[in-house]
Amino acid sequence: MKLLVTGGAGFIGSNFIHYLMKQRPGWKIVNFDALTYAGNPANLTAADDNPDYRFVKGDISNVDEVEQVFASGFDYAVNFAAESHVDRSLYDPGLFFKTNVVGTQILLEQAKKSGVRRFLHVSTDEVYGSLGSDGYFSEESPLAPSSPYAASKASADLICGAYHKTYGFPVIVTRAGNNYGPYQFPEKLIPFFVTKAIRDESLPLYGDGLNVRDWLYVEDHCDGLLTVLEGGTDGGFYNIGGGNEMTNIEITNRILEILGKPKSLITPVKDRPGHDRRYALDCSKIKMELGWEPRTDFADGLVRTAKWYLANEKWWRDILDGAYLEFYEKHYREEDNNRERL
Ligand SMILES: NC(=O)c1ccc[n+]([C@@H]2O[C@H](COP(=O)([O-])OP(=O)(O)OC[C@H]3O[C@@H](n4cnc5c(N)ncnc54)[C@H](O)[C@@H]3O)[C@@H](O)[C@H]2O)c1
Repeated sequence: MKLLVTGGAGFIGSNFIHYLMKQRPGWKIVNFDALTYAGNPANLTAADDNPDYRFVKGDISNVDEVEQVFASGFDYAVNFAAESHVDRSLYDPGLFFKTNVVGTQILLEQAKKSGVRRFLHVSTDEVYGSLGSDGYFSEESPLAPSSPYAASKASADLICGAYHKTYGFPVIVTRAGNNYGPYQFPEKLIPFFVTKAIRDESLPLYGDGLNVRDWLYVEDHCDGLLTVLEGGTDGGFYNIGGGNEMTNIEITNRILEILGKPKSLITPVKDRPGHDRRYALDCSKIKMELGWEPRTDFADGLVRTAKWYLANEKWWRDILDGAYLEFYEKHYREEDNNRERL
């Protein structure tokens, strides 16, 4: 089996490549990634020695580069490549639409031309918008994205649907909840707070901390993706959730407890504009149709994650010294200094 993974140097993509190497040894994997600030070759040092793995640097919004990579022919393509951080989408929405919308259409077009047997597009529960305290989003729920990030992902989902309806192209879309686990860039909530707590720095918690997310351990997500890739129905949409609804304040308290740090590190800060209150997924479709369920209990997954960051300090310190700092200095430094404390 020959597989193209786009965005495989990022958080979920690199975990997916590691997972495939364990679960499907012998599959030929090409990782096509632009190596933006979020793409980190250090996530894949273990894969570099594998003769079945090859890295190709390229941009999904560049037609020539995408055409070239598809020329070698693939059975499957899985698209992780995206601008993925909501906060960044508030500052540079144009980049999100270029990568996440135009890039996805270019990938679909070239995949179709080259005769890919199945294309899996990795999307997010953020396309559904915000929920009140009750109810769940099913695959039939209307799309109501709040942030430029979510709008760009919702647009890409619609393009995938149109490629199936119009051309009969074998594409499937998955929508997952918030992921956590090893190799997550330390600007996202859990690694952000874990790495700050390790350094005894304050943890800036948005608003009242009562925003709820459905947390999914990244290895469970990878397992769900492989299940859908091999057994899903073309043209289908599948929610993939962890079944772990948790408020941000609860997660923050648990992180401090695991690391043995005081609650006084928590500093409430002004909420982000358009901050969705609650996401929660109805995952009965993937369970009924494909028998998939998440395996990792949130308490275990969080301990494993915190331990990974403790054991891999060089990995995240290298990032904080480079990629993250540049963005932080440009957009957050002044804001942080003047931040309205709640
Ligand atoms: N992280 C989550 O909690 C979560 C949840 C649900 C869905 N998703 C989706 O899963 C996918 C992967 O998320 P992630 O958290 O691993 O993201 P990430 O930001 O860690 O990684 C994104 C990867 O895409 C690459 N990339 C960015 N622009 C590119 C371009 N133009 N061409 C080629 N490569 C490019 C980056 O270099 C990086 O390696 C995204 O599509 C995201 O929307 C993420």
